[in-house]
Amino acid sequence: MHSADFSKLLDIDRSPLETGGFNPYYRSLGGLQHGQPWIGRSPFFDLASNDYLGLSSDRRIHEAMDSAIREYGSSMCGTPIATGYASIFAQLEAELAQFIGLPSAVLFPSCYQANVSILSTIAKPGDVILIDHYAHASLGQGAKAAGCKVKPFLHNDMGHLETQLAACTGFHRKFIVTESVFSTEGSLAPLRSIVELSRRYEAVPVVDDSHGLGVIGASGRGILEHDALGDFPGIYTASLGKALANAGGVVAGDAEFIEAIRYSCPGLIYSTALSPASVAGTLAALEIVRSEFSRLGDVMWKNHQLLMKSLKEQGFCLSEGSAPIAAILADSTTHTLALAKDFFQKGILATPFIPPSVPQGRGVLRCILGAKLTGLSLEDLIESIHHLGPSEAERAAGLSLEPLPA
Ligand SMILES: Cc1ncc(COP(=O)(O)O)c(C=O)c1O
Repeated sequence: MHSADFSKLLDIDRSPLETGGFNPYYRSLGGLQHGQPWIGRSPFFDLASNDYLGLSSDRRIHEAMDSAIREYGSSMCGTPIATGYASIFAQLEAELAQFIGLPSAVLFPSCYQANVSILSTIAKPGDVILIDHYAHASLGQGAKAAGCKVKPFLHNDMGHLETQLAACTGFHRKFIVTESVFSTEGSLAPLRSIVELSRRYEAVPVVDDSHGLGVIGASGRGILEHDALGDFPGIYTASLGKALANAGGVVAGDAEFIEAIRYSCPGLIYSTALSPASVAGTLAALEIVRSEFSRLGDVMWKNHQLLMKSLKEQGFCLSEGSAPIAAILADSTTHTLALAKDFFQKGILATPFIPPSVPQGRGVLRCILGAKLTGLSLEDLIESIHHLGPSEAERAAGLSLEPLPA
């Protein structure tokens, strides 16, 4: 079979993109100028990236990355277990563990890889994984790859989770898998209740804190600080490519477990280590979060409130999450793409989520302002928002949507 024939097998429906005459995906960005991305000759407001604290343009991080390249080269050109583990890797693992509030941590090339690889390493046929219906694709893929029974529970519904747990008899081990901050609309998992249910039903909780680390908790330490879970008994994962403005993933937990992972997890053992520049950049970011979170967090939340207020004034239908994520709700793929197009035409980049990232018949245009805009550019952004919709599509639908259904 010719590789071109596979495109037919993949059965991708591109018609909404073609009908709307607008494709927001794989958009080619020019470099940043004065902190703003450019497309062609125009500057854009970036509400699409996960740069919660505005650290991606922080010079101190860039300098740390530059000097790591001079010291270690551009790449370790090897896996961590063989030749890819410089002293800064151990330093970052220790600092992350301490920051997150768990005994030990290990770095992965990405959180996607960590989630898939960890779940498929620890869970086996004969086990069961209970997973929040809205959990990130990487957690779903990991559960699938484990080859055990997978039971989704309704989003953040502890009653449903408990019913499922009570019905799970005859399995060897049980795992409860969730995100902390759900990235599409910013809802927060009730992790304390999940931990309590885990204890009662002898299950292992697994939480992905990608959108919590550096964002929630009084000092930005993530979900364990936010929920005062000093004794979290489970497995913690997070991406380093969001508030920490770099790349890579971290898995944290009990020291013996982390040591076992170093020798058993194929996604770690057989994959090139993170670049030393990324490791050094994340160390620098962590130092900034430790010393400046109270200021950066304040700016992030103030900006978020201003963004929510402006969007509400324009009549958009918004989900009220607990994270600095503004989620504009839409009732179809066409509507979501029309919203994305309106924003784009006003010079604003936002992220459209369409099925399968959200349920069929729904959509979300996600906007994360973060702490990155100040002064005049923030005023310019609000001015641009005031020239926005509600879009034609939204007016036509006369929308008043509930948050995404579980
Ligand atoms: C909740 C969640 N988990 C995992 C990932 C993957 O992280 P990474 O980009 O480090 O692979 C993402 C990124 O989109 C995410 O939002």
